[in-house]
Amino acid sequence: MTRAKIELGDVTPHNIKQLKLLNQVVFPVSYNEKFYKDVLEAGELAKLAYYNDIVVGAVCCRVDTSENARRLYIMTLGCLSPYRRLGIGTVMVQHVLNYVKKDENFNSIFLHVQVNNEGAIDFYKKFGFEIVATKQQYYKRIEPADAHVLQKTVHPQSDTNHQTSSQ
Ligand SMILES: CC(C)(COP(=O)(O)OP(=O)(O)OC[C@H]1O[C@@H](n2cnc3c(N)ncnc32)[C@H](O)[C@@H]1OP(=O)(O)O)[C@@H](O)C(=O)NCCC(=O)NCCS
Repeated sequence: MTRAKIELGDVTPHNIKQLKLLNQVVFPVSYNEKFYKDVLEAGELAKLAYYNDIVVGAVCCRVDTSENARRLYIMTLGCLSPYRRLGIGTVMVQHVLNYVKKDENFNSIFLHVQVNNEGAIDFYKKFGFEIVATKQQYYKRIEPADAHVLQKTVHPQSDTNHQTSSQ
């Protein structure tokens, strides 16, 4: 048997409905029209994941410039449940890590995850993310409502609060 093929592809007006369906199935939170409008403009920060040419996952990020830093925020990263533990999430995270690695102005990558989502927490820890905060009542319509903030520092020198010397 030949090995399965995992590829990432752009989000376009032609396939954005597939992204919407996927997000509806994978996430307990629903995303509004503005979210999808921005995703269409996001370039490399939004990708569909294909498993043998079928859409089974997606990642959507945006640049966040709050808190005196330039950080990449993972809004959604998910895979249909029958296709989990096949390396699809890894391909999506690696894409995001490569993106920030190329741009030294990124301080870190972060995301929110429901406190009971142990699978996702284990997944992100594998890539060097750490729980840096827990926000009570972060989610409005789902239980548990609390979220962990998972963060991975990529270029600490780009933190505007710290001046590092090259000597
Ligand atoms: C989290 C998620 C994206 C992982 O995707 P995936 O395609 O299954 O991940 P991978 O197959 O690349 O897993 C890589 C490694 O992460 C770890 N991992 C992944 N899922 C795990 C789980 N449920 N429990 C424990 N470890 C897990 C494992 O070490 C795994 O390697 P292994 O399969 O060789 O043991 C997927 O479970 C998912 O879509 N969950 C729902 C959406 C979500 O919660 N997203 C996170 C918030 S944005």
